[in-house]
Amino acid sequence: RGCTGSMADVPKDLLSEIKKLEEIFAVDTEKLKAITKHFITELDKGLSVEGGDIPMNPTWVMDFPDGYETGTYLALDMGGTNLRVCEITLTDKKSEFDIIQSKYRMPEELKTGESDELWEYIADCLQQFVETHHGDTVPVDGKLPMGFTFSYPATQNYIDEGILQRWTKGFDINGVEGENVVPMLEAALDQRGVPIKVSALINDTTGTLIASAYTDTQMKIGCIFGTGCNAAYMEHCGNIPKLAHLNLPADMPMAINCEWGAFDNEHKVLPFTPYDVLIDKQSPRPGQQAFEKCIAGLYLGEIFRLILVDLHDNKDIHIFEGQDIKHLRKAYSLDASFLSAIEDDPFENLQETADLFKDKLHLSCTRPELELIRRAAELIGTRAARLSACGVAAICTKKNLQPCHVGADGSVFNKYPHFKARGAQALREILDWPAKKNTREEDPIEILAAEDGSGVGAALIAALTLKRFQKGNV
Ligand code: GLC
Repeated sequence: RGCTGSMADVPKDLLSEIKKLEEIFAVDTEKLKAITKHFITELDKGLSVEGGDIPMNPTWVMDFPDGYETGTYLALDMGGTNLRVCEITLTDKKSEFDIIQSKYRMPEELKTGESDELWEYIADCLQQFVETHHGDTVPVDGKLPMGFTFSYPATQNYIDEGILQRWTKGFDINGVEGENVVPMLEAALDQRGVPIKVSALINDTTGTLIASAYTDTQMKIGCIFGTGCNAAYMEHCGNIPKLAHLNLPADMPMAINCEWGAFDNEHKVLPFTPYDVLIDKQSPRPGQQAFEKCIAGLYLGEIFRLILVDLHDNKDIHIFEGQDIKHLRKAYSLDASFLSAIEDDPFENLQETADLFKDKLHLSCTRPELELIRRAAELIGTRAARLSACGVAAICTKKNLQPCHVGADGSVFNKYPHFKARGAQALREILDWPAKKNTREEDPIEILAAEDGSGVGAALIAALTLKRFQKGNV
């Protein structure tokens, strides 16, 4: 847990800086509840015709799988960090599948380059995959069906359409915003003669929701806590005023990709620190993804870096005194795994933290500095987990989902120390649950590791879509 209790030897001025950080990063129970309340209002607003901060995008995923889906499908996962191509076979055995996959690095320069370069690179990866694996995928009308996990906010009038609303997660590629990405990818594939048809465009959260429900019918929400942060859940069309003009049956289910990273873009409730303000200002899209910038893996290391630079440059405590901090000045040079390692380091000697600073940043740390570093990491990680819980609590309250399971995926959820426990603790505070009688007892809402949404989820959605079209439905 925290380390303030054992900070006897930390000089007073350094302690007072730690205290200030604790004050600005703390999110107490009352604040969590206020954020959750506002979150519920914003979820509703997003479904309305007028709209709000959160896009609440209808996805045209209108069914949970029954576990008996079969067939072989390709899946392309374009997340924030890697590109992954998979071939997934949904077998005859209920809820079982086989998967072959290849990962490709997403070159950094592509993220801020030109549209053509992006689609050409992706088409090359797909071509390579199809040629190497030949595949058992059965062509539909001469082409291989593929689920495309495109994890950015997209407007969909159909399941195989995705008009990019805006880039998130640091992407800034010209000529894509406002456009349907499916024909762009298909054109690059056609040029190479790669016989693939995008059957469905999917958000990673929707994929996670569907893949989780495939193996656990208690799963009602799919969440990603990774490079970005977001969630999807099933709504009824009758509760989606912005779709009223389509006259869909009121009880028809429709998965909603919340795009909750945009929560509180209006700055009404979140406790933004000066570091959050700076992150926003220096990002390619200031004013957007306010919630995500406090929580997601892409930003956690950067918040930490900004704190240390500030303590070095602007405060009287002179951390890293007499040392050149040029390596620390490089924006986005520390990722969330750097913070994870610090939080994982046994507090007694903080040796790994000292080594990390030496190796990566060429800085030697005194013991008090190491304690400050550790505390800063804890504060950032704890705030991220606690704020994340507000989104989950808001959806569960709005939809009256307790008890339920929430399927979660992403590097922060899977790898960041204590993230799950801190999130669970925050849920307990927000929803006023009584203390557990024993450790085996489940919480009314359990956030659990999800099935691979961007691969298996995408394949399932492709399968569900083909089944729906074969039946001649919407
Ligand atoms: C960003 C994207 C969103 C995605 C999330 C997690 O918030 O806008 O679509 O689900 O990151 O990858």
